[in-house]
Amino acid sequence: MTANPFKPTAGKMPPILIGRHDIVESFMEGLENGAGAPGRLMLLTGQRGFGKTVMLTELARVAEGNGWAVAMDVASAGLVGRLTEALRARGPRVTRANVSPSIDIAGVASLSVGGVELAGAATSLTLRTAIEERLKKVGDGKGVLLAIDESQAASREDLVAVATAYQQVLQDLDLTNVPDDRKKGVALVLAALPQLTDELLNDEVLTFLRRSQQHVLAEVPMPDVRNAYVEVVQGSGKAIEMDVADRAAEASLGYPYMVQLVGYYMWQSSKRRGSDQILLEDVVQGEKDASLAFQDAVCAPAFDGLSGAQREFLLAMVPDLPGASRVSDVGARAGKSLSWANKYRASLISDQVLAAGGRGLVRLAIPHMGEYLDRVAARLGE
Ligand SMILES: Nc1ncnc2c1ncn2[C@@H]1O[C@H](COP(=O)(O)OP(=O)(O)O)[C@@H](O)[C@H]1O
Ligand SMILES: [Mg+2]
Repeated sequence: MTANPFKPTAGKMPPILIGRHDIVESFMEGLENGAGAPGRLMLLTGQRGFGKTVMLTELARVAEGNGWAVAMDVASAGLVGRLTEALRARGPRVTRANVSPSIDIAGVASLSVGGVELAGAATSLTLRTAIEERLKKVGDGKGVLLAIDESQAASREDLVAVATAYQQVLQDLDLTNVPDDRKKGVALVLAALPQLTDELLNDEVLTFLRRSQQHVLAEVPMPDVRNAYVEVVQGSGKAIEMDVADRAAEASLGYPYMVQLVGYYMWQSSKRRGSDQILLEDVVQGEKDASLAFQDAVCAPAFDGLSGAQREFLLAMVPDLPGASRVSDVGARAGKSLSWANKYRASLISDQVLAAGGRGLVRLAIPHMGEYLDRVAARLGE
């Protein structure tokens, strides 16, 4: 029997990249259309599990395929130093996306074995020099892509250094007398949780990011999910009927991480039955297993990352679940004023945890968050 083809793991490329073709296309246009093309400065936001790392990896792959050099990293202390060092290394892909801190630490450790000092010293000036040196090694009309994951975790200092270097390189490139089709270029793609945007875009030094092309990664279309299920399952030696695949797509709610989880667990369920066919019962079991895994991997960290008041607001919604809540009821239950409720309603909507439902109603925007809040409320009530 073949191995389970689904990839419910952060940052892992899925067997089929569902949706998102518009983003890839505008990025490619950006590479082709030269300096100033919108796709060369991009901000991808979305909650956990919506495919930010996957998208960043895909754009890096596209850039490499087009002859660009790529420095990709995850924002954390020492980001600018790692990008600088990476650009000085050989090879097209200069750093890999590090999705776990342990890989990150290992990566840094192996670099310091080579006697390279990475700590703190790197500035926008050294990053700028590293980009310009690297640009000399790429072909005419090609360039350097900086791809930064988890940008919401970057220090302001690091982001300012990246922004400054990026803008200075752009200016220097503008001053060269090379015809447009041969001009080299620089691109910057940032991926971040939604929390990043307000603070960052209001920072004076970083205002240029407001001009970036912004994509909010949302659900992928359900018919595409269904087709991907059929294709992946059949391509890996099992069978699935169209209506069963439809039911699985519904269970995923079009949420990319859930797509992989449901796929993975329905596959496991049919395997346990020793069958080569995925049946409705496998989807039902798969959905249950997927929901629990999803709550642990997505709902819990999303909830823990909120402020105390935001959490209070969400817990006051529990009696209304799975329905929508009236903001005034939530305020009353929390023993707070209407202006308190309106304030946290707005902040939770901007963090993409809640969605506005019209006429003072709000509902949860993260799948399975309701089941997770039920569990938290039950634990608190014990
Ligand atoms: N477009 C997509 N189509 C199918 N699966 C996807 C897609 N994007 C992401 N995934 C899957 O979703 C999960 C989460 O992706 P990831 O990029 O780690 O999300 P994020 O970085 O936003 O938390 C992974 O299992 C990945 O394989
Ligand atoms: Mg990620």
